[in-house]
Amino acid sequence: MLTKDKVLEALSQVIEPDLRKDLVSLGMIENLVIEGKQVKFTIVLTTPACPLKDLMANACVNAVTKLVDPGAEVQINFTSRVNTVRQNSDVLKGVKNIIAVASGKGGVGKSTVAANLALSLAEEGAKVGLLDADIYGPSVPTLFGISSAPEMKEIDGHNLMIPLEKNGIRLLSIGFMMKADQAIVWRGPMISSAIRQFMNDVAWGSLDYLIIDLPPGTGDIHLTLAQQFPITGALIVTTPQELALADARKAVTMFRMQGVAVPLIGVVENMSYFSPEDQEGKRYYLFGKGGGEKLSMETGMPLLGEIPFIEAVRAAGDEGINALGQNKVYTEAFAKFAGNVARQIAVKNAGVSSRLK
Ligand SMILES: Nc1ncnc2c1ncn2[C@@H]1O[C@H](COP(=O)(O)OP(=O)(O)OP(=O)(O)O)[C@@H](O)[C@H]1O
Ligand SMILES: [Mg+2]
Repeated sequence: MLTKDKVLEALSQVIEPDLRKDLVSLGMIENLVIEGKQVKFTIVLTTPACPLKDLMANACVNAVTKLVDPGAEVQINFTSRVNTVRQNSDVLKGVKNIIAVASGKGGVGKSTVAANLALSLAEEGAKVGLLDADIYGPSVPTLFGISSAPEMKEIDGHNLMIPLEKNGIRLLSIGFMMKADQAIVWRGPMISSAIRQFMNDVAWGSLDYLIIDLPPGTGDIHLTLAQQFPITGALIVTTPQELALADARKAVTMFRMQGVAVPLIGVVENMSYFSPEDQEGKRYYLFGKGGGEKLSMETGMPLLGEIPFIEAVRAAGDEGINALGQNKVYTEAFAKFAGNVARQIAVKNAGVSSRLK
């Protein structure tokens, strides 16, 4: 007999692989309806970009058909409630997770990774914002092909900047307020104050993820953000070669410093190999091999992705068009990485230790 109790009992045998508890006690099963042989329910994921959702769905179907009724027709819908450890905070109230993208070395692809991570998470259905915190060398205007300035609006007595929107992402960059060839020549305190305004005086609204594209190095901008804002975690971007690793190690040290203490989400190796469009499957290791893995081993951070160097991605960045979907190898590697990031954050927020290495 198919009853709600029996179905729930069966589903309580299905374990969420990352959170290591069963779906029923995690409150992940909702809207259970039984009509004849039809069993319908919704799985509430901790992130829409959950790479484990098919695995969990299969396990649920198996549990119901094996433990309750072999003739059951199981229909599963998915929804998500991105988890957060931020509560009752006055700062960026509606923002569930703040992710900083850093590297140490310049030019390794932070901005490209930050932009495509934002796109990838938004495509999965998450509410995403992207703040270009590289005041000296903003990249978001070029990457998204935007040259208009954001508007100001009075909201609840505060004069706030309204982020621009493209591809479903809320975007803000100092580059939106400058001419393309204009340079910023500011001292440290002005930079810190600009960063604070970009975080506090902006109508970010409710966001699952606010991604921050940091400048290279370990300077005022990093310290202001790390010390004054509750960063959920930092992602470290490196390329495979030793020169980039050396700088990435410095970034790791900074985030781990006393008084900074920003949790590290993991490392992503960008430009891992060059894969020409006309030689499918061929990989050229232009910058060496295994740098990301080495950094991961040394620091104990998981390696969340190895992203190929693809000509079409460089071109898309220069032309301000969406790089995802331009090239299969890149898009697949990137989707895997973005899924790992979302998963890693969900695990951190749940207070469980990570299984990703
Ligand atoms: N995986 C990739 N495939 C092809 N080109 C890439 C890839 N990643 C980044 N690039 C290109 O490399 C250049 C540098 O990337 P990007 O601006 O993202 O680096 P960055 O680390 O943000 O640099 P900076 O330190 O100056 O802020 C850009 O032209 C970008 O289009
Ligand atoms: Mg950059």
